[in-house]
Amino acid sequence: MRAYALAAIVVCCASVAAAAAVLHASAQTSTDQIARGQYLVMSVGKCNDCHGPKLQGSSLIGLLKPGMPFAYRSPKIAGLPQLSTADAVTFLQTGRLPGGARARPPMPQYRFNHGDAAAVVAYLKSLK
Ligand code: HEC
Repeated sequence: MRAYALAAIVVCCASVAAAAAVLHASAQTSTDQIARGQYLVMSVGKCNDCHGPKLQGSSLIGLLKPGMPFAYRSPKIAGLPQLSTADAVTFLQTGRLPGGARARPPMPQYRFNHGDAAAVVAYLKSLK
């Protein structure tokens, strides 16, 4: 039950001068979004508890109880190579992967709002 307890705790993104200002603002927004995503990933969602300290994926054998439909290993999510940005945002808002499947426990069924899901994905996509 430790895995479910952990999951429950967790369930818990004109003018040249104006153009330059716009470019600066969008770069700023992106940096702010990534910083917010880092906070959501490392401090709120605690993704590192299961995906490893650098989000490279990790064995979860120590959390396993017999008979549970359980993933034995978390995948690498640094860089998020397996999902497009849109699919990853949908996954973090609905729990649904492309095709409609869900990730197995102990991956929590997150219901991030759109802005938070987008920030989480921006952060993960910024990593290697
Ligand atoms: C309690 C452990 C746990 C926590 C916390 C956790 N994950 Fe996971 N995650 C998993 C496991 C296990 C899988 C693999 C599930 C499977 O193989 O069916 C997974 C799968 C995923 C996948 C891949 C889905 C796919 O199949 O393509 C993504 C993306 C993901 N997690 C993102 C996150 C993010 C972002 C967070 C934090 C907001 C997070 N996870 C927190 C355990 C966890």
